[in-house]
Amino acid sequence: MASVSQLISAVERRLAGKVALVTGGASGIGEATARLFSKHGANVVIADIQDNLGLSLCKHLESASYVHCDVTNENDVENAVNAAVSEHGKLDIMVNNAGISGPIKASILDNTKSEFEAVININLVGVFLGTKHAARVMVPARRGSIINTASVCGSIGGVASHAYTSSKHAVVGLTRNTAVELGQFGVRVNCVSPYLVATPLTMDFFKLDEEGALGVYSNLKDAVLEPKDVAEAALYLGSDASKYVSGHNLVVDGGFTIVNTGLCVLGQSVV
Ligand SMILES: NC(=O)c1ccc[n+]([C@@H]2O[C@H](COP(=O)([O-])OP(=O)(O)OC[C@H]3O[C@@H](n4cnc5c(N)ncnc54)[C@H](O)[C@@H]3O)[C@@H](O)[C@H]2O)c1
Repeated sequence: MASVSQLISAVERRLAGKVALVTGGASGIGEATARLFSKHGANVVIADIQDNLGLSLCKHLESASYVHCDVTNENDVENAVNAAVSEHGKLDIMVNNAGISGPIKASILDNTKSEFEAVININLVGVFLGTKHAARVMVPARRGSIINTASVCGSIGGVASHAYTSSKHAVVGLTRNTAVELGQFGVRVNCVSPYLVATPLTMDFFKLDEEGALGVYSNLKDAVLEPKDVAEAALYLGSDASKYVSGHNLVVDGGFTIVNTGLCVLGQSVV
């Protein structure tokens, strides 16, 4: 029978011995995920293009290293996965999180092809490459958890730009399709879809100040979504607690996407 201290340790160190690679891990949701994974005993490899931020974050984590990786560059992604494997002998968790918002332009007539492609390249092609190279090492191992950061913009329209919304819908689709293929090899693929979180990405996109106003559109009152809440969802999907969960879109939005406030007759927020 397990001792009390063993049980406490199992609860507190839910990723003990696991190796995780987090793209976009130097800032925001990726940073919170790297911190939480490390706290739970994972060896974390942070892959980003903000080298100084990533390297300095590593100094604050228990077991972490940094690799420069532009997720739109297949050589970089291949190298990041190889770095995790050569350092730790395996890759258990791949978090495809790097993303950008791109410029807000309400009219499609104002959207340039290059702006649209830049968002798709990072938000979608980056997830494709991360999934491909994670699968390359996870399939032979017959295990692994791939976690993609999608968004509420992967479920509904009108919240962000055409490019961003398209990219996040596609991430949900790619998650489902790859989950179908990789399930036969014991590799799970899921995504996390956050509502607005105060990070450099959203502060820039919505031109918000530090106080923000991110909670005002949410359905759930008296709770403010923080990067660590999204990291908790990733922790669940990366841990063995979710061993039978695959192809799932774990929406972390306080109910934002389940209601059309324009027609809603329930709840005080719309009367
Ligand atoms: N903040 C939100 O409200 C919110 C909501 C839903 C989904 N998301 C998604 O969460 C993810 C993380 O965003 P965030 O809010 O933490 O933003 P952030 O700007 O704080 O972090 C994004 C990270 O990705 C990195 N990055 C950008 N381009 C890259 C590239 N080509 N290669 C490697 N790394 C690159 C950045 O350097 C940065 O460290 C994104 O996919 C975003 O779309 C964010």
